Amino acid sequence: KRHLISAADLSVEDAILILDTAEEMSQVASRPIKKLPTLRGRTVVNLFFEDSTRTRTSFELAAKRLSADVINFSAKGSSVSKGESLKDTALTLQAMGADAVVIRHSASGAPHRLAHSGWIHGSVLNAGDGTHEHPTQALLDAFTMRRRLAGAPDGGPVPHGEAGDGTGRDLAGRRVAIVGDVLHSRVVRSNVHLLTTLGAEVTLVAPPTLLPIGVESWPCRVSYDLDEVLPKSDAVMMLRVQRERMNAAFFPTEREYSRRYGLNAERVARLPEHAIVMHPGPMNRGMEITAEVADSARSTIVEQVTNGVSVRMAALYLLLGGADLAASDSGR
Ligand code: CP
Repeated sequence: KRHLISAADLSVEDAILILDTAEEMSQVASRPIKKLPTLRGRTVVNLFFEDSTRTRTSFELAAKRLSADVINFSAKGSSVSKGESLKDTALTLQAMGADAVVIRHSASGAPHRLAHSGWIHGSVLNAGDGTHEHPTQALLDAFTMRRRLAGAPDGGPVPHGEAGDGTGRDLAGRRVAIVGDVLHSRVVRSNVHLLTTLGAEVTLVAPPTLLPIGVESWPCRVSYDLDEVLPKSDAVMMLRVQRERMNAAFFPTEREYSRRYGLNAERVARLPEHAIVMHPGPMNRGMEITAEVADSARSTIVEQVTNGVSVRMAALYLLLGGADLAASDSGR
């Protein structure tokens, strides 16, 4: 594959290859010199039309750890603010020899357009487009679950490297609750695709006003009752309430939302002992998750960020056709 646009495009084999490669990449972080020479001479452009903290910095770090040259481009402060189009921006970057473009855009479909327009000759990686998808977020979430839940009780995934159900789907049988603002979330869409590909069972928990039309056809369950779902979950992933994208009709009060859908210590006590608490960030502390829970030992939120670097290294490495890992490492 040349691009990473949607988690729906990933087969089980693709997903496992990225996750296994990310495991190898994570070893680089524990070395005194945290670099591989594998993408030396290649150029990665971070093209961000929307704000980001985690995704942008981790893609930058991932590319630098693979020795690529990195150009960070934010729409703010660029000629986009003078009205330059996506096409002309892309052609400009192509003229400078971009081998890969990592794009975040408020318009769903912008990465697809970039990949299939001919404006860019290299690989396109979707870093979040509108309410569509955020595939590397889902990959880092799956990576985190695979690590943290491996060998856990209750029929969960088998230890890393063994086939859970005979198909290699490492998260086979794991139950994942994804809670909150499903309507506006690209993270949830990528996670539903990837987790079901990996054999997990996903339950969405949200108020009816924050569920999209057509959710019944998604390959997951839907519930309105968080307290009923928690005891049957191996992982609970809280979604950010995207207040900037909604009006009062969607969202009556913060207090009411927190009371029904917020994760607090009392609710965490309903989870099985091995279950983990996740959040892609950024968080609204005190709304969808209390500070106490976000900072607790059950929380993988900081670990997810760390894992994001390894997963993005793996994605860049595989898409840009890096040499064999062992060979590329031997020159160090
Ligand atoms: N999770 C995530 O995409 O965070 P950023 O918006 O900070 O990149």
